[in-house]
This record gives sequence, C-alpha cells and structure tokens, in this order.
Amino acid sequence: MVQAPTPSSAREIDVDRLLRADREHLIHPLYHPADHVQPMVVVRGEGTDIIDARGNRYFDALSGLWNVHVGHGRTELAQVAAEQMGTLAFNNNYVGFTNIPSTQLAEKLIELAYPNLNAVYFTTAGAEANESAFKTARFFWKLLGKPDKVKFISRRWGYHGVTMAAASATGLPAYHKMFAPLVPGFVQAMAPYRFRCELEEGSARTCTNPSGHDYAAELEQTLLDEDPDTVAAIIGEPVQGAGGVIVPPDDYWPKLRQIADRHNVLLIADEVITGFGRTGKWFALDHWKVQPDIVSFAKGVTSAYLPLGGIMLSRQVQNAINEAPSDLKFMHAATYSGHPVCCAVGLANVAIIEREGLVERAADVGRKFLDLLQRQLGPLPRVGEVRGLGMMAAVELVDPNATGSAYYDSAVALAGRVVNRCAQNGMLPRRLNNTICMAPPLISTEAQLARLVEVLAEAIQAEADH
Ligand SMILES: Cc1ncc(COP(=O)(O)O)c(C=O)c1O
Repeated sequence: MVQAPTPSSAREIDVDRLLRADREHLIHPLYHPADHVQPMVVVRGEGTDIIDARGNRYFDALSGLWNVHVGHGRTELAQVAAEQMGTLAFNNNYVGFTNIPSTQLAEKLIELAYPNLNAVYFTTAGAEANESAFKTARFFWKLLGKPDKVKFISRRWGYHGVTMAAASATGLPAYHKMFAPLVPGFVQAMAPYRFRCELEEGSARTCTNPSGHDYAAELEQTLLDEDPDTVAAIIGEPVQGAGGVIVPPDDYWPKLRQIADRHNVLLIADEVITGFGRTGKWFALDHWKVQPDIVSFAKGVTSAYLPLGGIMLSRQVQNAINEAPSDLKFMHAATYSGHPVCCAVGLANVAIIEREGLVERAADVGRKFLDLLQRQLGPLPRVGEVRGLGMMAAVELVDPNATGSAYYDSAVALAGRVVNRCAQNGMLPRRLNNTICMAPPLISTEAQLARLVEVLAEAIQAEADH
C-alpha cells in the first residue's frame, strides 16, 4: 500500500520564506503580482476539501479547476500510478509501439462515449486536445479532397485553452488582448446566453423569448457568411464553463447538429469540463441526444490526479486516418500521447466513477443543489440569474439600478467581495467577471451543498449592503 505523501504542513515549512521565493521565481497562470500578494499555500486534499499551510480547511467548490471529480486524497489512484511507474513509466506510443493502459483506456472510453465514436488519440491536456481536434478536422477534409475547408466557427463566451489555435477559438476577449494577432480562420458566432441577450439589438438584458433555434440560426448565418466550403468544423462546449456556466436551450444542440450536416462541416464537442459525469451524463451532449464527430476531453478523465486529455473520433473520421495513403499519413505527434501512467490512472479513475455511481449521483444531487440555489438565492435583489446542469452551477450578480452593460459589469466588484467572504467562511467558489461558478466534486453530499448555498447567500446579502 502506497502512503499518501507526507503533507508539507505549516510546522515543516517556513510559509513566509516560501512565498518570497514564489513571488521571486514563479509565474502563475493569469498572473499579476497585485493579485498574488497573499496566495493560499495549499498543502493537502481530503475528499471534498483542501487544507492550507495554516491548517485551514476549505470546501473545494470548483473541484480544483472543474476537474477533481472523485475528490482528493484517493490513495488508490496514487497506488495505481506508483505501480505503473515501477512497471513501465514511459515508452513512446508512436506508430509501431503500444502499451497496455492506453489501449485499455481507449477501449473503455469508446464503451462510455457516444455510439458513433470509435477511436481515441491521447494528449496531455485540454488545449492540446482541441489543437488535435482542429488538425484532425483539416486532415479529414484534405483527405476527402476538400483542402479549402480549414476554418472553425466557435462561440463567444467559449473557452478552449491556452495554445494559439485554442485561444483563437476562445470567445473571451481578455485572453486575446496581449497575445494578438490570433490564428487566422477562427470566427465566432453568438453564444446561447439567454440571460445576456445579444439577439435583441441594443439590449443587454435578458431576451424576451429566446430559443435555441434563434441562436443556432445566427450561427448558421455566420457559417454562410464565411462560406461553408471553407469551414472545417463548428466547435462548442455543450455547457460553456469558463464563460459562466451557460446552459443552452434544449433545442440548440440538435439544431447545431442539423446545421453541421446541412453544410457538410464537422461538429466538435469540447467536453473538457462537461465530460466524465460533470453534468449528470457521461458526456453532456447526451442530454440532447446529439452525437458529435469529434469530442475533446481532459480534466475529469483522471480527476486531475495526472494530466491527460485527448480526442475521440467518429468512425468516419477514423476511417480517413486509416485509409490515408502513406505519404499523407497522420503526422500528428506528442511525446506523451498515450502516457502509460496517466492512462493507468485514467482507467482507475473511470472505474471509481462507475463503481460509486458518480454520474447518476451528479444528476440527482446536482438537481437538488440547483433547486436550492434557485430558491435561496433567486429572490435576492443582486442575483440576476441562477443556472446550472448536474454538478455545474452559476450565480450571476447584477446591479438592478444600472442600465445597459453596467447592469452586469457593476456587479464585478461585488462578486469579488462575495468569493472572498465565502473563502473566509471555508468555501471556495470561483468568480468569473460578475458570475460565481461552482462545480463541486461529484462525491459532495447534499448537506455540504446546502452549507455552500447558505454561505453564499449570507455573503451576497452582507456584501451587497456595502
Ligand atoms: C472547455 C475547455 N476546453 C479546454 C480547456 C483547456 O484545458 P487545459 O487547461 O487542460 O489545456 C479548458 C480549461 O479550462 C476548458 O474549460
């Protein structure tokens, strides 16, 4: 039995010295020194909680970064990793070689995913999965004799990762500002964001009668404007995560599938957040009985115990790879594709999700969580909308006295104060602009989530008065 690593506790480390070294030598994601004056030094994870160097315990209300599905401290996964490292830590998984865990995990994922999918290519994370999806879509069309189909339609408020192409597909301008120019050929359509209506010209307020059909029609028009003969694929998150848990109308994804078919473009589902039970289904398009051509996944595949991502491909796309002449072969490679240790941990993690019924649990407990959030927070004057699906939820704060975009933007500072107050009370949701996002571990109990709602309600009420 492998021991859990000994925590670096406050007793053993000089926290102030550590933080001096951190500020001196470490650049963090989304970095600005002003936001890093007193960072939390996290030393341990236990179930739904993380513990800092001062011994404070917090409920991990975003499951790390939407990814610790099975909770922290699963020594079973540490043991699997240690055993695999001791047996075979690495060998290249390039053509001509294979290993046991990557093959077994691919077979398992295909069993769990949409019925039309049949093959997996592994990456190290979500951005690289999306890069692989883009390149595979172009590869597919080139092989079919349509080399001009190279563009991608994504949606505003979408997030697809840190690399240049994934960032170019991302529809959050803050991620572009200091890194432009973006990769050519990425075009954004409207998001199905009912609460911020872009459909009604001149209005920043909620649409009066939004339907998935309207949003899909806008996307179709964008596609037509670009000329479908130049478009390789549409990419979208089934529920937009980092944009603020934007849940589409029920008829939206079936319409997108029809549009993709009508215009002969592939449909890529970025399930990096929504995969592996997060929304109460193994993969989220299943809510609407839609099958994409390519799925990008990462995060929950290992519950973040090790980095792993990948794409799953329909038989049709797989056939293109298999039937390519050898001089046109799939020249896409990454050192860690099919990494045996990451895949072994992925396999063991998926087994935990299955064994403990965490997908069904996410559906059931998530429904009650959303209901409670809506009942407790919905009536508060500073709460504009409460939304969610499965174990993903968001509370969008507003300023009812403001007009236009200030209706939302004036609530950004309030949202910041609310998450700070939640942290003081042992809860760690994440703020995205004026929206407070939550994606609790799938093992969370109803009592823990009721406490989260209580702390959030108190924080919104107390901070709204300031
Ligand atoms: C929907 C989605 N796609 C892609 C990514 C990028 O994944 P990674 O950060 O693992 O590269 C993320 C990360 O949050 C994401 O939310």
